[in-house]
Order: sequence, then structure tokens, then C-alpha cells
Amino acid sequence: MSSVGKVIKCRAAVSYDFKKPFVIEEIEVAPPKAHEIRVKVCASGICHTDDHALGGGMAGVKFPVVLGHEGAGIVESVGEGVFKVQPGDHVILLCSPMCMKCKACLHEDSNFCEKNDVGKNVGLMLDKTSRFSLKGKMIHNFMSTSTFTEYTVVDEFAICRIDKAAPMDQVCLIGCGFSTGFGTVLNTAKVKPGSTCVVFGLGGIGMSAVMACKIAGATRIIGVDINPTKFTKAKELGCTECVDPKDCSKPIHEVITEMTNGGADYGFECIGKVDVMASMIQSTNYAYGSANIIGVPNYTDRLSLDVMWLLTGRTLQGAFLGDYKAPLDFPGLVSDVMAGKIDLNALVSYRLPLENINEGFDLMRNGKTIRTVLLTCKK
Ligand code: APR
Ligand code: ZN
Repeated sequence: MSSVGKVIKCRAAVSYDFKKPFVIEEIEVAPPKAHEIRVKVCASGICHTDDHALGGGMAGVKFPVVLGHEGAGIVESVGEGVFKVQPGDHVILLCSPMCMKCKACLHEDSNFCEKNDVGKNVGLMLDKTSRFSLKGKMIHNFMSTSTFTEYTVVDEFAICRIDKAAPMDQVCLIGCGFSTGFGTVLNTAKVKPGSTCVVFGLGGIGMSAVMACKIAGATRIIGVDINPTKFTKAKELGCTECVDPKDCSKPIHEVITEMTNGGADYGFECIGKVDVMASMIQSTNYAYGSANIIGVPNYTDRLSLDVMWLLTGRTLQGAFLGDYKAPLDFPGLVSDVMAGKIDLNALVSYRLPLENINEGFDLMRNGKTIRTVLLTCKK
């Protein structure tokens, strides 16, 4: 029996409050309204940003909420006026969607649409209502997507059609972590062949940055992490050296500056800690280093910057989602994965069913995983 036009009852991992475990509930997912799309979520990566929201590090997050923002799935039904996809199409959900009409979307160097929910965390569809409920009580969505559920509804702009043959349990990572690390290296920093790079934090985002540094032709790629169990994988993916700051008798930026005879050409912070951002900036060459911030800090934190770090000639920049214009660029990334140019499988440490979501988060919190992918929908 077709579910089109009807409420779907399905399982979702609901978050009820800060720092509380996920609860698997049977929620109700209303049909898509005009210019909305209902999607069966097939795979969803667990990203540190979800934990950030849960931990109270993001402004505005409201409960109850269905978190998750790194997902791939299949279109179940579409609302009136939707022409870009049809039922059965395979899609990546876009946590940084683009309306393609606002000033930011129209600017060639920006992907940060004024209608996205990044940092605002309104947690609702564009019409300011929700399609999720549980026993009559409204549940919020997250980052225009909500992927820790068997079915979700998104606004039309938060979706991008992909090749039906693409492996969902890998390409879901293009929805956030992979693109964030990979794109900042290639699109924002534009790493040049023969250069020296230093990547702080070797999680899903840092490892993706390492992969991109290698593809860009960097000859030295130094990985920095306080968890040395990450080093084997980091070297497989491209790091030429790895350093644990805990093993060093000097501040890490002095160590990197010595190792690179004056500082790296490019630095990347993939953790979200302002003190590490300061170290990353100082680890780049004082005269021409390019310092790039990728990690998202607690919203109350502030970076303390000695302006001289920049006046000597360094560049400091940040990017969201690797500066990819997601609706336009993601299908190409999927093609690169399918052509074997990008090994996303190397980033997936575990695949778990949705009901094991708390185990998946513990693996991330305990530093046991690069990425855990939830295989979301059983049906
Ligand atoms: N110095 C060096 N490495 C550190 C430090 C530190 N002070 N603190 C943490 N790390 C390392 C961890 O050991 C881990 O390997 O940073 C890595 C972070 O990886 P994940 O937890 O997998 O996080 P990830 O999903 O990659 O996200 C990183 O980007 O989008 C943001 O919100 C996200 O801010 C987070 C960051
Ligand atoms: Zn826009």
C-alpha cells in the first residue's frame, strides 16, 4: 500500500535534552507540503557536530529533536511543485542547502545561503512548522535535514540527486564531514603541489583534509592528534609524519615550526578548539602561511588573536562545508567516489543499525572511530 500523502510511522532516535542518551521512538512523519520532499534515510554518518548540539555547544538547539545531518536516502514522495526529484531517486541531504537566489548563493565564492539553519538552529521547515511528531507533541528538526530517523522531510533546496548505483553507506559522508575537510583543502586553501601541510585533529574531518592534501600534491603532510591510535590510518591516507602534542616538551606550534624549518605552508584546524586554532595559525609560516579553520567551537568561545600573526603576511580563513556549493558540486564528488578517485570506505570504521546509535556516539567520544555510519532504515 502506498504511503504517499499519508503520515508514516517509523523509528527515529529522539533527543530529549542536552547530554541525554538517544531514545528510539516510533514517531510520525507527516507528508511533504508544497516544495518539500519526504525521504527514506538509508545511511547517516555520526558527526561530532551532532554531539556538539547535544552537549550544549551550539546556540538555539531545541528539544525534543531528531539530530543527524550527514545522510543519504531515497525519495519516498514529493510535495506540490517539486520537479527536481521524483520518488525513487537517490539523494544526499544537504545540511548547508542553497536557495540559489540570495546574495550568498549567487556569489561565486560563497555557499552559505541566508536560508540555511546553520548556527541559527530554528529547527523547523522553512514555513516554520515541523513534519515530525510523537503522540501529538511536535519534534524539531536539525540543520535542515534530521537523519537519525527512517524517514525525514526536507525543504526542496536541502536535497541533491545522485547516481542510483552510489553506495549510500559511503556517500552519506559527502553530506558533511568528508566535504568539509576535503573541500577546505582544495577550494578554500587551494593547496599547491610540493607544499607542506599540517592538519590538527585526525577525526573524520581531519582525515578527509589529509586525503585532499595528498591529492593536491603536498609533499609533507603532518598530522597532529592527542590520540596516537589515529596515526596508522592517517599515514595510510597520506600523512608523512604524525605528532602527539603530549609527547612534546615544547608548545606544538614551536615543534611544527622547527620540523618545517619556519612553519608549514598550510594549516588546518579540524577539532573546534580555539586554543588549537591559535596553535595552528602559529604553526604556519609567519610570512606566507595559509591558516584555515574548519572545526566548529563552542558558540561562547572566542579566539584570542595576536594581530601580528597576520600582519607579517599570514592569511586566516574559514569555510563551511569545504566551500562546496552542495547542490552543484556533490554529484561530481559522488562520481569521483564511484570512479575510485576518492576512497570514502577508508573513513568508515563501523556500520551500525539505528538502534545502536548510543554505542555509535560512545565510539566517537572515546576516539575509537573515524566515522560510524548508521544504517538507518530497515524497511
Ligand atoms: N589537539 C590535537 N588533537 C585533538 C585535540 C587537541 N587538543 N583535541 C581533540 N583532538 C582530536 C581527537 O583525538 C580526534 O581525533 O581531534 C579529533 C576530532 O575528531 P572527531 O571527534 O572525529 O570530530 P570530527 O567529526 O572530525 O569533527 C571535528 O569539526 O565540524 C566540526 O563540530 C565538528 O568541531 C568538530 C570538528
Ligand atoms: Zn541562498
